[in-house]
Amino acid sequence: MKVLTHTDRPAVESFHGLVAVSPEMRELFRLIQRVAKSDISLLIRGETGTGKELVARAMHALSGRSNGPYRAVNCATLTGELLASELFGHVRGAFTGAVADRKGVFSLANKGTLFLDEVAEIPLEIQPRLLRVLQSGEFIPVGATKAEHVDVRIVSATHRALRREVANGRFRADLMYRIRVRPLYIPPLRDRTGDIEALTWHFIDLFNGENRRVGAIEESAMQALTTYRWPGNVRELRNVIEGAFAFGEGSVLTMDELTPELRGEEPPEDGVPLYETLEDRERATILAALTTAGGRRGEAAAALGMSRTTLWRKLRELGL
Ligand SMILES: Nc1ncnc2c1ncn2[C@@H]1O[C@H](COP(=O)(O)OP(=O)(O)OP(=O)(O)O)[C@@H](O)[C@H]1O
Ligand SMILES: [Mg+2]
Repeated sequence: MKVLTHTDRPAVESFHGLVAVSPEMRELFRLIQRVAKSDISLLIRGETGTGKELVARAMHALSGRSNGPYRAVNCATLTGELLASELFGHVRGAFTGAVADRKGVFSLANKGTLFLDEVAEIPLEIQPRLLRVLQSGEFIPVGATKAEHVDVRIVSATHRALRREVANGRFRADLMYRIRVRPLYIPPLRDRTGDIEALTWHFIDLFNGENRRVGAIEESAMQALTTYRWPGNVRELRNVIEGAFAFGEGSVLTMDELTPELRGEEPPEDGVPLYETLEDRERATILAALTTAGGRRGEAAAALGMSRTTLWRKLRELGL
């Protein structure tokens, strides 16, 4: 069996928890360093699991606001007044269940950074209020009459092409220009194979512990890892390595410890029907994962290599 050991690992750059060797990612790290100090709004775009949240945190850590608060809100998980309240807060009695005044994330992030995750999902009716606070720093809590003023730096993220959302009438153009003064793009993992190798070692280091210590990896396993398409990107890679640690034993991580997809086998069918469209296929895959996980969404999301919120959004999109 031919193996690769730690000495074969590439020289990596580690940047605020992000590990990379590829020129694309290193270029992105430089760009982050350049823009972090300014207060301009940034839009991070990248597929699920590419590290958008880590980039947002790095942006805060490198900014002049690093001593201030960092807050994150996922715009896909709430709708209507609940999202408005999460963003802007509410006063007691503003709606049923509003039993006390509550601060929103814009107040809580004052003098710091606010990360608007899945920003493309913000409902159209909330967008004018968001635009106003981005333009003037002012907003009115739900049910209040007086405006509040804050100083917040906005970092947003989406997996969607915002321009297309604008073209389809789902997102306001003026808001788009406000939030993506500087767009940042994180390429999918399949387009930076050097990083796959570096990240594999990174996660081996991470999971090395009392239960198992891995010092080498079978060459064919590394080959399989670097040629796989990684729809769940870095998160999926992390899960695969974690799974291999749990599944196998000994100091060499081997091919047969990888998931069936990685070994080039069809995933077990489990009565999943032949799919006709991509959407059907996605629906079938998600349903199968949910069934396997006994309905536990966290587990299903981990098995699919996506975050809980991505799974949640997909369930909604697919009408599940
Ligand atoms: N370059 C990297 N180096 C090390 N770990 C990474 C890197 N990129 C992502 N990760 C890890 O992968 C996982 C997913 O990253 P993150 O949550 O930032 O992705 P995301 O783009 O926000 O995904 P989603 O769109 O699903 O929310 C996390 O565990 C993160 O620590
Ligand atoms: Mg995220």
